[in-house]
Amino acid sequence: MTMSKSMPHTDPKKLVIKLGGSMLAGLHSSFFDSLKKYLSEGYQIVIVHGGGPMINEELEKNNIAYKTVNGIRYTSKEAVGIVQNALVEKVNPFLTNQLLSANIQTVGLNGMDGSIFESDFLDEHVYGYVGKIQKVHDEKIQSYLHSGQIPVIACFGATSDGIPLNINGDTVASDIALAIKAEALVLVTDTNGIKIQGEVKEEVNPEEINDWINSEDIFGGMIPKVKAAVECLESGIPEIHIVNQYFEGTKIAKEGVRL
Ligand SMILES: Nc1ncnc2c1ncn2[C@@H]1O[C@H](COP(=O)(O)OP(=O)(O)OP(=O)(O)O)[C@@H](O)[C@H]1O
Ligand SMILES: [Mg+2]
Repeated sequence: MTMSKSMPHTDPKKLVIKLGGSMLAGLHSSFFDSLKKYLSEGYQIVIVHGGGPMINEELEKNNIAYKTVNGIRYTSKEAVGIVQNALVEKVNPFLTNQLLSANIQTVGLNGMDGSIFESDFLDEHVYGYVGKIQKVHDEKIQSYLHSGQIPVIACFGATSDGIPLNINGDTVASDIALAIKAEALVLVTDTNGIKIQGEVKEEVNPEEINDWINSEDIFGGMIPKVKAAVECLESGIPEIHIVNQYFEGTKIAKEGVRL
């Protein structure tokens, strides 16, 4: 992944990196080296994480069936507590500890207390206890960045009445990237980019993405990822990358624009 040279500006450049759940158990030391490289280049980094496989494991242990709708995990009332436990109590401290061991200063966070972001039901009838972000408190995130810490945010929130909500990590990452005006959004997942009929695409544009969703060459968990990417692109984030943990993969850019 090559970051393009940006216009000089005074604020530090910000990078939002979303780590897919499947990545977390086997992160290579080179991933932490890449983070350090971006920090040394002056980037401020926010990490958002999912927890797919860990959540599935816990649901299976508790004999709760799971399914996805439009690439989003349907979350029943009995599942939501398990998802909360996996993301907030297990995956988040695990990742935060790994970063600290690599000498990267972090703070583990989630959206439940409303201080980082506020959320509400996405569509209870269709998705159950799944949330959408209504407001990001970007000043709170900026204050962590300002103090030299990487906020590590679990994609889990709650309504203002405290009802817990599972939120798709790609959506959390894109909403945060937009709110803090990130230079780039990087979606790290278990595949080296968007593959179409077995071939990795180096650079794609929103029109192609729509065609591939219609032809089902893009399906499942890749759908919220590309939708988040297109939304960010259209709202002014110059670069979105879908990559593996070695930062190899696909760059999403507007047609005709070479960033
Ligand atoms: N065209 C495509 N190219 C590559 N992967 C695709 C494509 N279409 C669908 N996928 C699927 O999308 C998956 C990645 O999304 P997934 O939601 O599983 O992971 P994640 O978002 O990184 O993790 P989590 O959901 O835990 O945060 C890939 O493993 C692959 O099976
Ligand atoms: Mg996913």
